[in-house]
Amino acid sequence: MDDRLTRLRSEAPALIGAASSLDELHDVEQRVVGRASPVAELRRSLGELPPDERPGVGRVVREVAEELGALVAARRSELEALAADALLDADRVDVTLPALSLPAGSLHPIQQTIDEICEIFIGLGYRVAEGPEAELGWYNFDALNTPPDHPSRAESDTLYLDHGAPEDELLLRTQTSPMQVRWMEQHSPPVYVVVPGKVYRADTIDASHLPVFHQIEGLAVEEGLTFPDLKGTLAHFAKEFFGPSTRVRFRPHFFPFTEPSAELDVSCFACVDGASDCRVCRGAGWLEMLGCGMVDPNVFTSAGYDPDVVTGFAFGMGVERPAMVRHGIDNIRHFVDNDLRFLAQFR
Ligand code: DAH
Repeated sequence: MDDRLTRLRSEAPALIGAASSLDELHDVEQRVVGRASPVAELRRSLGELPPDERPGVGRVVREVAEELGALVAARRSELEALAADALLDADRVDVTLPALSLPAGSLHPIQQTIDEICEIFIGLGYRVAEGPEAELGWYNFDALNTPPDHPSRAESDTLYLDHGAPEDELLLRTQTSPMQVRWMEQHSPPVYVVVPGKVYRADTIDASHLPVFHQIEGLAVEEGLTFPDLKGTLAHFAKEFFGPSTRVRFRPHFFPFTEPSAELDVSCFACVDGASDCRVCRGAGWLEMLGCGMVDPNVFTSAGYDPDVVTGFAFGMGVERPAMVRHGIDNIRHFVDNDLRFLAQFR
């Protein structure tokens, strides 16, 4: 037999056994049974041997190739098993480590209050709409029957983005009421809509004022709506929001866009008839809730509705104050401080 084959047969098993990684084993395999190995070369040159030697040599070459191939395969299984063990070892979970904490977030208390109030009106058949925060002076004031010299239009109250000509005066809306006219321009009566959103005023921050806060506007328009419809709607809302024994009272007031106008108070939910030591109403027995009234005919005219055909009522409430009253929050700044110790109480 070719002595290269003899040498290979005696040396290869040790080489194969010494391969300590799958890569190394691959290299050894190339050397002992690969295309450039003595086994392959002999196999290729069988044809050059005298015919009577071919079967004998051919058998030995095949035997050696099979023998070494089997050794390589066995070593490969061993190395694969070792690699799998190493991976399992490295991947071991240390169950004694403290768990990663992934605390669940929650909706901001203001958003929760908005959702809760809107749900009550959705239950009465209202739709929910939103409007732009950068608003035209026309929708925020003029279309709402608010004359150019009205004090709320002063720069001490309203944040202007662009004074421009009166018709394209741009400002940060001071109320969600501008959606009254925007909605009526786009929809025919009957209208039942509530509009939650941010509003802006040139206020200095203190315990009860923020320059950005939230309001929810309401508008109902149909043939034949009267003040009792307004009263019934808001009494229902107050009972749903503050509890079934809540009473309401209306105090005459003035708003440019409603006539007559009123402010709505709700009976204090924290005491009976205004206890002098009540921390919620401070003895008044009533809490101011919102402004409301019957839509002024001029507003209908601005929106393209015929005030001889339809009537309606509107109301507008802040969101921060009822949320504070409800949850006993004593400082409006808590809502914007982003302190998790505060926010986590509203999960
Ligand atoms: N927009 C008023 C404000 O910001 C609130 C308001 C009062 C809205 C009376 C109304 C209303 O729709 O009828 O103070």
